Amino acid sequence: MSGNEDRSERDDRSERDGRVESDGGATGEPSRTAGEQSRFAAADRVTSVPPSGIREFFEVAENRDDVISLGVGEPDFTAPWPARSAAIESLERGRTSYTANRGMPDLRRAIAERVTRYDQSYDPDSEILVTTGASEAVDLAFRAFVNPGDTVALPTPTYVSYEPGVRFAGGEPLAVHTRHEDDWALTPEALREAGADEADVLVLCYPNNPTGATMDADEMDAVADFCRRHDLLVVADEIYAALTYEGDHQSVATRPGMRERTVVINGFSKAYAMTGLRLGYAMGPEPAIDAMTKVHQYAMLSAPTTAQHAALAAIRRCDDEVERMRREYDRRRRYVVSRLRELGLEVAEPGGAFYAFPRVADVAPEGDARAFATDLLEAEGVAAVPGTAFGAGGEGHLRMSYATGLDDLKEAMARLERFLS
Ligand SMILES: Cc1ncc(COP(=O)(O)O)c(C=O)c1O
Repeated sequence: MSGNEDRSERDDRSERDGRVESDGGATGEPSRTAGEQSRFAAADRVTSVPPSGIREFFEVAENRDDVISLGVGEPDFTAPWPARSAAIESLERGRTSYTANRGMPDLRRAIAERVTRYDQSYDPDSEILVTTGASEAVDLAFRAFVNPGDTVALPTPTYVSYEPGVRFAGGEPLAVHTRHEDDWALTPEALREAGADEADVLVLCYPNNPTGATMDADEMDAVADFCRRHDLLVVADEIYAALTYEGDHQSVATRPGMRERTVVINGFSKAYAMTGLRLGYAMGPEPAIDAMTKVHQYAMLSAPTTAQHAALAAIRRCDDEVERMRREYDRRRRYVVSRLRELGLEVAEPGGAFYAFPRVADVAPEGDARAFATDLLEAEGVAAVPGTAFGAGGEGHLRMSYATGLDDLKEAMARLERFLS
């Protein structure tokens, strides 16, 4: 299967359905009349959340057909065939009922076995919950553990859904700035400076969206130490763990004294290119998973049955495909990083996920990355996401996804070169 074929299939889907950005920006919503808007005035906690910066930007990109998008946060591959065929087979066999609230026991056992590769050990009966995407697991974690007024420390820049999720749960987000100069790693100094020693919860996303940053063993030890000392509960979103290119994936939950204070979130969207099947999971000590299951039970009942069958096949039969995709991302990553540096842009080495996060502050009008992204889109038809869509810490940067075929990446870099000169 070639990257280009995959891409055209994906574009077909987007055209049919109205694109929904996997990382938080819905587009193509029907317009509403003023009457409808006033009748359904949203609750304060909803209006307090601004619209996604990604969505705003992609509405512009969608009106042109010559655009190369480096904006999407989802694989350009199709889910491996064994996963798709298991989904088809489950439907053919008429498996159209709910599963257990926590997910199919076979799938939970397979997950428990799979995560041992990260030195994680969870009891499939009581410590794993299968969810509708990692997104649901993130939302459940906030709803299960954040009391109104609790402070949730969010390293910035980071994935777009955490801050709204914290606000919907009644919590107060606290921005912890990470820096290009530290390769976007989180440090105890940054946590202290932001006042995270007083926080209740810390969210970690490594490998990181949007920077691609990973943490090495020493950096993770230092963060774990800070969390223990200040009694923080940790929500660790490790959805890109399998897409790690440099060294081994480091999970905070494996550090001494951390398992009992950490909920680990993972899923099938990224590593298995299964975004549309909507399957993820949460792992943690029994009381944590019990609390999250209580919310899940009333909000969702169970994750989609067809997708659970696909996920089971994905774990059992798709390792080679996952490795093939990982190598392809790695090839693109090396290409994009070296081209960006050739063009004179500074970019920290992304050790995981599928994003590069170059600094454009020095070449952007008045240092404004949003203006740079808009001009680049208008002049050359290259779409990249301004870093501030991921929080104030993304100022002066652009997120470029390399979940896009190498030919398109080459053309995008050639256009960027023309634009810069
Ligand atoms: C860090 C991170 N977590 C969670 C998600 C959502 O994953 P899922 O498709 O499993 O809901 C994304 C999607 O972009 C992401 O980047």
